[in-house]
Amino acid sequence: MSVAYLEKLNPEQRRAVEHGARENDAAPGTPLLVIAGAGSGKTNTLAHRVAHLIVNGADPRKILLMTFSRRAAAEMARRVERIARRAIGDNAGVMTDALWAGTFHGIGARLLRDYAGEIGLDPAFTIHDREDSTDLINLMRHELGYSKTENRFPAKGSCLAIYSRCANAGLPIEDVLATSFPWCAVWAVELKQLFAVYVEAKQRQNVLDYDDLLLYWAQMVSDPGLAGE
Ligand SMILES: Nc1ncnc2c1ncn2[C@@H]1O[C@H](COP(=O)(O)OP(=O)(O)OP(=O)(O)O)[C@@H](O)[C@H]1O
Ligand SMILES: [Mg+2]
Repeated sequence: MSVAYLEKLNPEQRRAVEHGARENDAAPGTPLLVIAGAGSGKTNTLAHRVAHLIVNGADPRKILLMTFSRRAAAEMARRVERIARRAIGDNAGVMTDALWAGTFHGIGARLLRDYAGEIGLDPAFTIHDREDSTDLINLMRHELGYSKTENRFPAKGSCLAIYSRCANAGLPIEDVLATSFPWCAVWAVELKQLFAVYVEAKQRQNVLDYDDLLLYWAQMVSDPGLAGE
């Protein structure tokens, strides 16, 4: 098959794109970590790799392309389609539409909806973005009377940042406060109560915040049965 669509890549990029192909040393499926600087062609290389896999018969439904922002994810998917179209024509669109491309949170949400029934989650869950989450935690902060404390209780943004750090790092609040938010350390007891009420409110309203999307997903795939599917 013609590989004209790979000719503009430099040798390092091309090696990354073709890694795992039969003519290379690496066995198919061997992981590859590429570290490269800003503007060095990372997205370009990834897009070519995905297109190359699809052109060579890989099942696009088994390709997962993840990045941080929606814009970057859309850009990646668009580039994959353009390259694949150049190589195999108009059929490329159907193929590239089938691949999984998105943000970490978007992919997490999609998997959680698909498998909600199996992990005891209502599939109609609502997703709170950072702003919604800040509003909800602020509401709880008011309800507990913490917005009127004499010595100023941490602001809503700090409360969410602390909660998020605890959830993501899997660390007790005392540790997180000591290492990252020492000026809030005197409020450990109150923050703990705030977080408990916040979690309860999320569950009552069938809401997942951004941290939950990643946490629930991680928990889901730690079950070998579900991970295998
Ligand atoms: N082998 C190449 N030959 C010519 N131009 C290239 C090559 N690889 C990448 N480029 C060009 O360099 C620019 C940056 O590429 P790309 O966006 O893929 O880099 P990146 O590492 O993802 O950048 P960022 O760090 O901003 O995400 C683009 O205009 C791209 O078309
Ligand atoms: Mg990039």
